[in-house]
Amino acid sequence: MKILLIGEKGQLAWELIRTLMPVGEVVSVDYPQFDISDKTQIADTVKAVAPDIVINASAYTNVDLAETEKEKAMAINADGPGWLAAACASKKIPLIHYSTDFVFDGTKKTPYVETDQPNPINVYGLSKWRGEQSIQQETGSALIFRLAWLYSMRGNSFVTKFLEWAKKYETIRIVDDQIGNPTWARFVAEATAAILSQAIIAEKPLYNWFAERNGIYHLTSGGEASRYDWAKRILDFFPQNENFIINEILTAKTIEFYTPALRPPFSVLNCDRIVKSFNTSVTHWENQLRLCLQ
Ligand SMILES: NC(=O)c1ccc[n+]([C@@H]2O[C@H](COP(=O)([O-])OP(=O)(O)OC[C@H]3O[C@@H](n4cnc5c(N)ncnc54)[C@H](OP(=O)(O)O)[C@@H]3O)[C@@H](O)[C@H]2O)c1
Repeated sequence: MKILLIGEKGQLAWELIRTLMPVGEVVSVDYPQFDISDKTQIADTVKAVAPDIVINASAYTNVDLAETEKEKAMAINADGPGWLAAACASKKIPLIHYSTDFVFDGTKKTPYVETDQPNPINVYGLSKWRGEQSIQQETGSALIFRLAWLYSMRGNSFVTKFLEWAKKYETIRIVDDQIGNPTWARFVAEATAAILSQAIIAEKPLYNWFAERNGIYHLTSGGEASRYDWAKRILDFFPQNENFIINEILTAKTIEFYTPALRPPFSVLNCDRIVKSFNTSVTHWENQLRLCLQ
């Protein structure tokens, strides 16, 4: 089993590389050696590697900068994934791709399901939604997992940022009016590996197995949290806190902090579809966070 992994240096890709080791040979590529916004390079790489499956963990993920770098965000998150899907389809290779809760506007009051209409309120969300659409136009054999509030101990996530702030500030103000699913990148990697393993042991070509399950699935932790709840739990669960000077976390409102991109106020995703389709389980965000931090 040869797996072509796009985006090797990202926080999710890192977890995928280690988690997929027992599943198959992982050939990983990343920018600048491989550029997903280069159509020719995509076709050449897929041809040269000749993988059994492609997993795209690359993305333009700077939500605020995307507001001023719209063209670049669209090329990486929308055009590239479409070209990748076309290259895969032409060789009957299935594709796994990741999208985001930011495709939604956040006005719903209950968790979003896959059939809810996206309505992104920032360029990043729009680019990721276009990416979903372009993949679905090009191939009928792709699983698109919508993730949310991804973190790990590597990379630039809310968790790593908060741990830095805790060393620098005695008081930290965190918004309590953005609600979502803090999701550990390792959980996503392991769910991906578990689903891929189901495909490998099925007695049919991988492409057909994926084609039968082609579509979008929400894949996040269970429960829901505000950023304030999340911050409080980071502090509770992090064991090595000798260097912290923080002594209080106060609540704040989104409107108090200017950011170039708007954030959806409520982007909790309902994961029933993935649980039923692949018999996976979705663990509560606090359990994922405790394990990650410890
Ligand atoms: N982070 C979140 O909170 C979150 C939430 C929901 C969904 N997601 C989705 O989850 C997936 C993984 O996210 P992540 O947090 O692991 O992202 P990440 O850490 O930002 O990693 C993305 C990787 O893609 C690479 N990349 C950027 N431009 C590229 C290009 N033109 N060609 C090839 N590679 C390129 C980046 O390289 P450079 O570092 O050199 O740019 C980086 O290694 C993405 O699809 C993202 O949209 C993330």
